[in-house]
Amino acid sequence: MTSLLFSPLTIRGLTLKNRIVLSPMLTYSATNGYTNETHFAHYAKYAVGGVGLVFVESTKIDPRGCSTPKDLGLWKDEFVPGMRKIVDLVKSYGSAVGIQLGHSGRKARRNLPWEGRTPMENCPGVDHGEPWELIGPSPVPHSGSYQAPREMTYDDIGEMMEAYAQGARRADEAGFDVLEIHGAHGYLLHQFLSPTANKRTDRYGGSLENRMRFAIEVVQATKRYWPENKPLFLRISAIDETEWTIDDSVALARALKKHGVDCIDCSAGGISDTAPSNNIVGYGYQVKFADAVRNGADIMSMAVGMIVHADQAESILQKGEADLVALGRELLVNPNWAMDAALKLGEPAPYAQMPPVYGYYLDRRKRGFKELQHSTAQAGIKA
Ligand SMILES: Cc1cc2nc3c(=O)[nH]c(=O)nc-3n(C[C@H](O)[C@H](O)[C@H](O)COP(=O)(O)O)c2cc1C
Repeated sequence: MTSLLFSPLTIRGLTLKNRIVLSPMLTYSATNGYTNETHFAHYAKYAVGGVGLVFVESTKIDPRGCSTPKDLGLWKDEFVPGMRKIVDLVKSYGSAVGIQLGHSGRKARRNLPWEGRTPMENCPGVDHGEPWELIGPSPVPHSGSYQAPREMTYDDIGEMMEAYAQGARRADEAGFDVLEIHGAHGYLLHQFLSPTANKRTDRYGGSLENRMRFAIEVVQATKRYWPENKPLFLRISAIDETEWTIDDSVALARALKKHGVDCIDCSAGGISDTAPSNNIVGYGYQVKFADAVRNGADIMSMAVGMIVHADQAESILQKGEADLVALGRELLVNPNWAMDAALKLGEPAPYAQMPPVYGYYLDRRKRGFKELQHSTAQAGIKA
């Protein structure tokens, strides 16, 4: 019997071969926003390993949105050919490919995680073509060690919508199958949603409806170019460590659904330095959020966070807690996780997840093992 994990899933005009997703993860490898061999090798690996949908990391639609000097960019047309190379590689191995569009807002301009993630005063050696200014909904810093951003004017907001629209156009031109808008982890969209970061008194601040306006306008902007037959996802922090609640997330998901978002990718935290994700977490620690959003807003959801085992992933889907499971660090450990999961779940053709050359030889090896076991058993040899 085929598991749900390995059942195809159709969203708009796209059919995924299974429900395993590579969660968007920064590789911190770009130079001035451009892709290079590291990205090609990195993303191809997960497609070879059988992941159904490979997400390219948070890619910035505005140079000011880069969280570090090594973020990928999509703020100009020159980035498209490099992205197309990732797309072609991933698709050549039978996986679908998505991209996450992001903007870090007041959390931009930091050193790399392993350099302490400290805020940078300036940006030596980075040529983004523009000053790397911190902007946000209100002049409220992320934490004590951060600079306060400049409050965005209506003109800034209009330009940002255009940047998202053009980012979506470039993502489509590069051939991506799925677009995800990054609305989580304390970055720009989340900053507008959060009453902690957003102190505005105009139509973008105050009530929940007003604070959701920026995110909804971003969706509308991307929809100007993102084709109707391609799925649109949005990642949220379903709860955060200050004022944003799961009820807010359900309300947001309902509104986003009306504006054509297909799937809510449910993460958590990031609006301050005391994110839940910085605390001790357990297996599937955010699955309950994917469940609450899916079943509270009647929309597809994607679960993420310490999904490690094949039977754990299958059980999330069987229980109707999510429609897709995204794995981050476990896929870093084992890019062939999908094949491994297929074997563990007793899939009839476990190697079908892999390119034919792997499948052909691994299948023969498996049959060889069976024959070996049979002959050793006959000879009374304990394996
Ligand atoms: C190296 C690294 C980079 C990440 N970059 C992103 C990112 O670009 N966008 C995003 O939404 N989340 C990012 N995340 C969060 C992951 O997508 C994921 O939600 C998180 O790691 C929890 O899932 P896991 O337990 O399966 O790793 C990153 C995580 C890691 C470890």
